Amino acid sequence: MAFSEKFIDDLVARNDIVDVVSGYVRLSKRSGANQFGLCPFHSEKTPSFSVNQEKQIYHCFGCGKGGSVINFIMEIENLGYRDAVAFLARRAGMTMPEEQNDAESRKRVRMLALNKDAARFFYEQLATPAGKRAGDYMAQRRISPATARNFGIGYAPDSWDSLEKAMRQKGYTDFELADAGLVRRGKSGGFYDTFRNRLMFPVIDVRGNVIGFSGRILGDGEPKYMNSPETLVFNKSRNLFALNLAKKSKSGYIILSEGNIDVVSLHQAGFDSAVASLGTSLTPEQARLLSRYTNQVIIAYDNDGAGLKASQRAITILEKLDVKVKVLRLTGAKDPDEFIKAKGPEAFRKLLEGSENQVDYRLRGVTEKYDLSVDEQKVEFLKEATELVARLPGLVERQVYAMRVASLAGVAEELITQEVERRRKRLVNRAYREEERRQTQPERQSQPPEKELRYDDPVSARAEEGMIRLLSLEPELGARPGLPEAERFSSPALARIYGVLRGRIARHESVSGASLGEELSGAEMSLLVRIQQEPVDFGKGDRALQDYIKIIQDRCQQRTEKDAPLDLRALAERQREKGKRYE
Ligand code: CTP
Ligand code: MN
Repeated sequence: MAFSEKFIDDLVARNDIVDVVSGYVRLSKRSGANQFGLCPFHSEKTPSFSVNQEKQIYHCFGCGKGGSVINFIMEIENLGYRDAVAFLARRAGMTMPEEQNDAESRKRVRMLALNKDAARFFYEQLATPAGKRAGDYMAQRRISPATARNFGIGYAPDSWDSLEKAMRQKGYTDFELADAGLVRRGKSGGFYDTFRNRLMFPVIDVRGNVIGFSGRILGDGEPKYMNSPETLVFNKSRNLFALNLAKKSKSGYIILSEGNIDVVSLHQAGFDSAVASLGTSLTPEQARLLSRYTNQVIIAYDNDGAGLKASQRAITILEKLDVKVKVLRLTGAKDPDEFIKAKGPEAFRKLLEGSENQVDYRLRGVTEKYDLSVDEQKVEFLKEATELVARLPGLVERQVYAMRVASLAGVAEELITQEVERRRKRLVNRAYREEERRQTQPERQSQPPEKELRYDDPVSARAEEGMIRLLSLEPELGARPGLPEAERFSSPALARIYGVLRGRIARHESVSGASLGEELSGAEMSLLVRIQQEPVDFGKGDRALQDYIKIIQDRCQQRTEKDAPLDLRALAERQREKGKRYE
């Protein structure tokens, strides 16, 4: 469902961009209408991230990102358009249009509210006398109060009904509590608290909703963990613990570990991109979720047989999604938490930097897959292993690994080296052909930084950008006759923007506001903001328009002719000749 322009305008008005951005970025410098700060989207030392309160937009002169307050939330919270709108609506205390009527979504909203209230209740227990036990346990595990707050860790009292009572007082029914998995029904028909005398970790999704809980026993005992059951809002295999925090990390990778305590401990030590799967080994859904936020995962599973097996499985799943995987080899500790406590964060950072590369690890995986004492299996092993080694960029590296493969299989070294280099040549040739194809394409200049937006025809693209700039400044030009169709544009992204602008002009809608974000992707929106930032000669609109039209039409024709089969091209040529003669 599309949001009405009025709703979006309201939303933007109630979420001033300077306010919202200030929650994430310290805006310290002012220059003209702009306030500047360090860009949250790329690493930098001098501020090039600007916010313009008047225009309610942001723009980074360094990385080129920009847009409205909605785009900002999409980018920084890693949300889609709808979720970003919902996020801001909640921030401003507005009701989302569709939430007003729809039984199922009303139920979801209610369950999320209940979960949030329950999380608050658990958190507040830490400060009570009964909660001292949990405080002591955290102290023993060296979890600081600040970390507890960051994760919203709390305590479920040692009682059959304290949560139930507290939530009933807030107006929730036992049935609602049961649906959320917070109470269970006893044999006599009464309800009792699911979580008792446990350290409570709320599970928070990427939108900031509390969707469920993990409760750890204080100390030793069974079961060590209790998790919320599947509910309307909680699905263990589709969520990751702490991804809500990790998605904001600037580290460029995500650390995947097994335990909640490990994650908490990692964050506390400054590794703010740690997540854990919720008591299962990584599922394909979780991997897909991860791949939305990073292209590199560092696995830091427990240092035992189960951890090793789980790592192998996770690698297979992640690599299918083109996520680079490295595996950490913890030595002398059973898990990341223990490692950091024993050797300190610096040692862990060193480990991260030297984490076993994917080849090492996969070579081990390949080796374990085959029984090398069986000839056929050895052949298969050699095929797979040499292909792996051939992909290594460095000659020395390849030789080292070739030697390793040779000794693993008990085969002469030269044989393996030869085979590796033969496969290597094939790979390189293929890469060359690709590169050649790229080189022969038209020169690229003033290209957008986003790879997917690269212009194939920079000359035309310039004019297309100009057209868009004009239309967004002087929408009435959109009604002039002779404007080209969007299909004539060379850049699909610019064509999209142009099409959207014209559609809006035709419907008499605004062409600057944040509602554009619904129709444009984040990258397109950034592109538009960049285009709008460039200076324009006011008053020359009409003249410029005609120039742009001509360039776009000409370039389009040239492109079609180039692509057309030979005889058609000749025909076009003749036609042009004819045209000239009669001019
Ligand atoms: N887990 C679970 N149910 C269990 C045991 C474990 O759901 N009975 C899940 C929990 O999410 C836990 C994770 O598996 O965090 C890994 O377990 P473990 O390493 O034993 O837990 P940690 O949180 O690391 O706790 P600790 O280091 O204190 O043992
Ligand atoms: Mn652990």
